[in-house]
Amino acid sequence: MSRKILGFYVLCFFHIYVTSKKIRTPSYIKPCSISAPDFEDCCLSHGKEALPYILKGDRRFGIPNMIPLTIPQIDVDAGNNLKILLKNIEVFGLDKTILNKVKFDTDAKKLMINISIPQLSLRGNYEIDGRILILPIRGNGDLDILAIDGIYQYNAEYIISKYKGDDYFDLTEKDTLDFDLKNMKIKLNNLFDGDKKLGDQMNKFLNENWKEVLSEFGPAISGTVRSIGRSIASAIFKKIPYHELVLD
Ligand SMILES: *[C@@H]1O[C@H](CO)[C@@H](O)[C@H](O)[C@H]1NC(C)=O
Repeated sequence: MSRKILGFYVLCFFHIYVTSKKIRTPSYIKPCSISAPDFEDCCLSHGKEALPYILKGDRRFGIPNMIPLTIPQIDVDAGNNLKILLKNIEVFGLDKTILNKVKFDTDAKKLMINISIPQLSLRGNYEIDGRILILPIRGNGDLDILAIDGIYQYNAEYIISKYKGDDYFDLTEKDTLDFDLKNMKIKLNNLFDGDKKLGDQMNKFLNENWKEVLSEFGPAISGTVRSIGRSIASAIFKKIPYHELVLD
């Protein structure tokens, strides 16, 4: 199952203040030569080397520590019949991210990153109101979503922008995240004003029908991963000129 998610908003994710461009390239970011036959392998292996440093955060780029990552608020766009708001979310499991593939198409100006995250968990508070599949659902409390064996593919397009004589990658608004999960576990505490019987029934129903439920909660997962991807990529691209990342 693969989904393309649109209409998702992560508010106040992490702000990247681009006060002055260009910093000294940190030693964990190594360029690859586009004319070399192993360009893609090079991107993958250098990406794998850099990933742990990036996930730990780097103030020079304005990238926070992502182990765990905290997100103040996620508005999930689940359509007209359902409202989902997530608050004070902590994201666990990014430290186990495996980079599968990195693709740069410098002619089409496209970037693709394919990763696996064995156990991605979102924990925090939720508010939900509306209908899920066909059942009425309502409540607010603690939430725990676990996305098991996810493969996520981030696709973005870029343009090259000039700034003070240097070229920079500049991601366009056209980015997508597709993903597949093996399984998803959902726990919503305090549904229906704390009615335990109804709440237990609903949680059981959600887990038994996780694939269908994923179309409602999926945006929370894919949007989170997409905005992490976008934020990391733009943070680095805004500070390091193109020609220090991609050699001719
Ligand atoms: C990511 O790459 C894997 C392995 O190459 C592939 O099977 C999968 O379809 C890709 N994932 C997505 C979501 O496109």
